[in-house]
Amino acid sequence: QSCLLLGAPVDSGKKRRGCLMGPDAYRTAGLAESLSDLGHDVRDLGNVAPAAFAPDETGSLPHALNETIAWTDALTKAAEAAMQTGLPIFMGGDHSLSAGTVAGVANHAAALNRPLFVLWLDAHTDYHTPHTTDSGNLHGTPVAYFTGVEGFEGFPPIQNPVPQENVCMIGLRSVDAAEREALQATAIRTHDMREIDENGIAKPLAAFLDHVAAQNGLLHVSLDVDFLDPSVAPAVGTTVPGGATVREAHLVMEMLHDSGLLTSLDLVELNPFLDERGRTAKLMVDLAASALGRRVFDRPTRSF
Ligand code: ARG
Ligand code: MN
Ligand code: MN
Ligand code: MN
Repeated sequence: QSCLLLGAPVDSGKKRRGCLMGPDAYRTAGLAESLSDLGHDVRDLGNVAPAAFAPDETGSLPHALNETIAWTDALTKAAEAAMQTGLPIFMGGDHSLSAGTVAGVANHAAALNRPLFVLWLDAHTDYHTPHTTDSGNLHGTPVAYFTGVEGFEGFPPIQNPVPQENVCMIGLRSVDAAEREALQATAIRTHDMREIDENGIAKPLAAFLDHVAAQNGLLHVSLDVDFLDPSVAPAVGTTVPGGATVREAHLVMEMLHDSGLLTSLDLVELNPFLDERGRTAKLMVDLAASALGRRVFDRPTRSF
């Protein structure tokens, strides 16, 4: 497979700084080498950059709106272009980058006349709009943007909104009241940690993958570091206890590979400033490798 690495050093989606170092942390942790060792043709296209934007007023809400809009525009174009030539892996950068990456991938899917599905692996639903956010942090809004919710004035108008029923969220354990209320009126599939504790993580994922396959869909996966438990992945500004274990996360990635459905991937919210000797960056690289085919034995293990 042809894997394209694109750095998206987006740091405007929240106030705590550091995600701009994410792409270089993934490079340092050996992302390209890990994927080429699996036999893939890997190209690092360097970092995407936003066009010039008007300065943001400090203290205004939402935080760094103009900068985030500029990133959304640049990443939409970069993602749509990258989809023509391979499987793009977006090395974030905070989660506001997914407004752009998913919008761009959705444009590509529409041109192919195929539906796009999004798997959102996150402690959070990121379903605020710039009007409902209380934190002012736009990394809490990308899902509302790419599913076509109103309230994103100034952003590039979304051309191909992802249908709600095509979005599946796994790992949820921190949802704000406004998000919960808005989500309840949607067809977005939400799987919280309670459900995973009771039934395991494979079940909801397998059901979603079967659905994607049945529709001949493209599949974009957005992996937020805080999907993982903070004890194994400390390098993120929005830690929430009770996250996915290393084993659950690898299982998800291995099932994604077995499905053959993955067409694009975001690695988001890594803040290397908060890491411990690179352990979070290395875990994220290992998870990406599992999603692209690293396995213990060369035989199928799917048993459900
Ligand atoms: N819901 C909270 C907020 O809007 C947290 C969002 C966290 N998002 C993330 N991508 N880590 O501020
Ligand atoms: Mn997120
Ligand atoms: Mn295209
Ligand atoms: Mn999160």
